[in-house]
Amino acid sequence: MKEVIKIEGGHPLKGEVTISGSKNATVALIPAAILANGPVTICGVPDISDVQSLSTLLKELGVFVMIKGKDHIVIDPTEMKNIPLEHPAVSKLRASYYFMGALLGKYKKVDIKMPGGCYLGPRPIDLHIKGFKALGAEVNDEDGYYHIKADRLVGNKIFLDISSVGATINIMMAAVYAEGRTVIENAAKEPEIIDVATLLNKMGAKIRGAGTNIIKIDGVQELSGCFHEIIPDRIEAGTFLIMAAAAAQEMTVSNIIPQHLESLLAKLEEMGVDMDVDVDRVTIRGGKPLKGAAIKTLPYPGFATDLQQPLTTLMTQAEGESKVIETIYPERFKNCFELAGMGADIEVGTSNCTVRGKTPLTGKRVTATDLRCGAALVVAGLIASGTTEIQEVYHIDRGYCDLDGKLKKLGAKIWREQTE
Ligand code: EPU
Repeated sequence: MKEVIKIEGGHPLKGEVTISGSKNATVALIPAAILANGPVTICGVPDISDVQSLSTLLKELGVFVMIKGKDHIVIDPTEMKNIPLEHPAVSKLRASYYFMGALLGKYKKVDIKMPGGCYLGPRPIDLHIKGFKALGAEVNDEDGYYHIKADRLVGNKIFLDISSVGATINIMMAAVYAEGRTVIENAAKEPEIIDVATLLNKMGAKIRGAGTNIIKIDGVQELSGCFHEIIPDRIEAGTFLIMAAAAAQEMTVSNIIPQHLESLLAKLEEMGVDMDVDVDRVTIRGGKPLKGAAIKTLPYPGFATDLQQPLTTLMTQAEGESKVIETIYPERFKNCFELAGMGADIEVGTSNCTVRGKTPLTGKRVTATDLRCGAALVVAGLIASGTTEIQEVYHIDRGYCDLDGKLKKLGAKIWREQTE
């Protein structure tokens, strides 16, 4: 049995949606918690399948894990054992690679299968490995199985050729217990990196400069348990803002940090979206004609690659030509073929696409080939005539907390069905 999401389009969204904790912060914070020598409580944890996969991996390692109430997780690594991570859950998500940095940092040894995650074209981890080696680790990769170990981890200067989010966080985790100072140059500046550094510092680490392109980590000998609240998910927030721009009468997206969404908010404004930005919420009123726009995805604070696919759906509703240039994941355009099948006028080139609008969309059977493609198709389903059926919804469930429940409350006609 497989599950599909069905959406009957054309029902305007109204009301308020509250954004959950950040997926991409959570999937790093959970592995980071094992660096402590006592219980870590994290609140604001989104109810997504990536969290379930990470909890499975923690239990494999003998870590005590308890979900408390609606969104708290307690992680107690006191009885943990550093066994090889080869459980199938490793391949379910990309972020299982954070166990490399965390286990290497704590035990100076890690054996782990190659991580999984959405296929967005090649996703190498050479910079993570370069960082571990610079700290003194020996890395062997045998058929997608990594064996990493070090006698000692010693702080070093590491220049990242690309400001990779994953490499920055993984090196930070590997370096917290290293001897002396580690300096990451050309570090990624995403808000999720600040969140992970904040957790580690609450545990007793000495990390300075997170959020800038130079991060300094002075090794410590002891990290203890603490309490941490996750930042709101800027990508979930951006997805709902795009849904509001596409399909709302009047809708408020709350529990957000508008500063984390500046590149999207500026683009929505340029497209003619009517909105009010407040301290922790944005209200959007629909009904205004939209203009085409051009975006180029870039590391933060540039336009987020994770919002490129949902925005492309909105572009089909804007007058004139829109252009997307993707500089992070050149193959992140599978959504365009699904949209074209629904009636969009889209041309996909090498690392770019051109959208000509405005075109009506018609509901049909489509496939969520990856997480944000799924989100883009939900946006399409909300505005299409007739019913849209989205297959492979497990991609959506990996990263959006109760997406259909939240949309139902906003007035969307969305439901799930089991199919053969
Ligand atoms: N890269 C390398 N070598 C490396 C690491 C990265 O060449 O060792 C390249 C990548 O191929 C890519 C670029 O550097 O072209 C940036 O990749 P980055 O490492 O920053 O991405 P990531 O850490 O694997 C995270 C998010 C992605 C998000 C990107 C970019 C997590 C678990 N994933 O991935 O989120 O798109 O940063 O912001 O945090 C999503 O949420 O849908 C998603 C894919």
